[in-house]
This record gives sequence, C-alpha cells and structure tokens, in this order.
Amino acid sequence: MIVTQTIADCRHERGKLGRLALVPTMGALHIGHISLIEIAKRHAEKVAVSIFVNPTQFGPREDFKKYPRPIEADLTKCRDAGVDLVFNPSEDQMYPPKLSAELQLDMPGLSAVLEGRIRPQHFRGVCQVVAKLFNILSPQAAVFGQKDYQQFIIIKSMVQSLDWPVEIIPAPTVRDPDGMALSSRNKYLSTAERLRGLSISKALFAARDEFAKGIVQTNRLLATMQHILLDPGSQGRVPLAVDYVAAVDAETLKNVEVISKPAVLALAARVGATRLIDNVILEP
Ligand code: PAJ
Repeated sequence: MIVTQTIADCRHERGKLGRLALVPTMGALHIGHISLIEIAKRHAEKVAVSIFVNPTQFGPREDFKKYPRPIEADLTKCRDAGVDLVFNPSEDQMYPPKLSAELQLDMPGLSAVLEGRIRPQHFRGVCQVVAKLFNILSPQAAVFGQKDYQQFIIIKSMVQSLDWPVEIIPAPTVRDPDGMALSSRNKYLSTAERLRGLSISKALFAARDEFAKGIVQTNRLLATMQHILLDPGSQGRVPLAVDYVAAVDAETLKNVEVISKPAVLALAARVGATRLIDNVILEP
C-alpha cells in the first residue's frame, strides 16, 4: 500500500494505477468505512482512500479540533482491507494559505434543507474538498455512504452538473447490532448517552415498520418517530434535542406528504454534546 501526503506524490502514484475507485473519508475508520472499501473493490481494479479532516466543512462551534485522528490505526485498517493508495494530506497541502480567493461550489436547491439548515456552510465545504479529491485522484468511481444521504445526493448531482466522468456509488448504512449507525462520533458518547441515542434508530425502524404495513402518510410516520424520540426510557437524565425529523423525496430532498415513490426519513439529534444523524430509505 502506498501512502502519500502531497498532491504531487499522490498524482504521481495514481498515474501508475489503472481504473481507480476512491473512498473519501475523514479517518477514524470503522466497519462502515471498510464496507465502502469492499464496495469500491467491486467497481475498480485499484482502490484509493483519502483521509483528511476537512476544516471547511466544520462550523465555528463544531468538533473540528477534537475530531479523532488515529492515523496509524487507520493505515493498518486500510492495509488489511487491501487498499492500494492512501492520500493523507496536511491542511496546508489542501488549502495553501496564499490562496486569497476561493471557488465556491454549491447545489443550493439540495443543500439548503435538512443538514444544511442547521450547518449552513457544511455542504459547500464538502463539495469543495470532494471536487479537489476528484481532481487530484481522477477516480473512475467513488463510493459514498447512505448514512450521509444528503451528502451522497449532493455529490451525485454536482458530478452530473459538471459532467464529471466519475460514477457515484451509494453504500448502505452499517449498524451496530443494537441498531445504532456506526459513526466516528459515537466515540464521544457515554454509556448512558449511547442508550438514549438508540431512540434515533428505534424511531426510524418503527416508522419503517409502519410504512411496510401500508401507512404512507408521512405525518403519521413523523408522529411515530417524535413519540419514540421524546420517550427517554431509563435514560431520563440524558438530554436529547431533535434538530429535525423529516420525510423527503429521495431525489429532490423536498418534503413529501404521501409516499408514492422512494423517500427518506431523515433525522438529526443532539445527545448530550454529540450530534448524531441517521435515516432510512423507504421504497414503495
Ligand atoms: P466520514 O464521516 O469519514 O465518512 C466517510 C464515508 O463513510 C462517507 O461516505 C460516509 O457516508 C460513510 N459512512 C460513515 N458512516 C457510515 C456507516 N455507518 N455506514 C456506511 N457508510 C458510512 O463523510 C465524510 O467523512 C466527509 O464529509 C467527506 C465525504 C470525506 C468529505 O470530507
């Protein structure tokens, strides 16, 4: 496995590889990330992983500084997973201080809702870094997790809008046996917070079960979710604050009232000081 830190080295090493699938990450790799690598292998001979905690997608009060950066453990996981090339640049490599003006990439119609309403600059930062990674690594395919469903849709539509020859491949959300979606941020949770946070996946699964029984009115599905989220169970002392619970069209991310085509139930909540997001996809 080749590990590169500069753009020049990365381009040079990439040039020796043929068809390439890229898995962009911020590191602190878990089984969810590894599942993306496995999917990437099915789409190309060679697989690259980028590991970069991208400052431009974090808000001023977010966890950029304390975001976990276990680079040696990440490299071991990549090696074990059969990754061919890792790109692990410094902040200066990606954002040289001499650049005074910056290009802004945005898909406002998709980025203003859900996560974008709570984190206004977030998707601009994501589009910026993903565009740079695509230009540095020239992958033929790139894999994005449906755990961050809105991110996947925005990147897919950015690539379509710019006629970028990169196939954007979705990867299903990987969960712990208790239902919680894997996330690098789960490390922040205490045992009590984790138990309280489980109401996020419980709420989504309950709504998905109702949908499977034929309930297609989203106000009913949303009420079911709210009810479960509000019930602290045995963890009454742990605060859970919902940022949003929404039922949206799976392509346009616009709110839907009756589900007649693929839709997403999307949810974000803060458990203690940790912000968690999750979703389920409903296919009529
Ligand atoms: P990060 O949060 O590290 O996630 C990297 C990729 O792993 C994303 O595509 C994300 O959706 C996927 N992922 C995370 N948890 C997952 C899970 N439980 N199951 C399946 N896939 C999961 O998302 C980012 O980094 C950044 O925004 C990035 C795209 C790298 C740009 O900086």
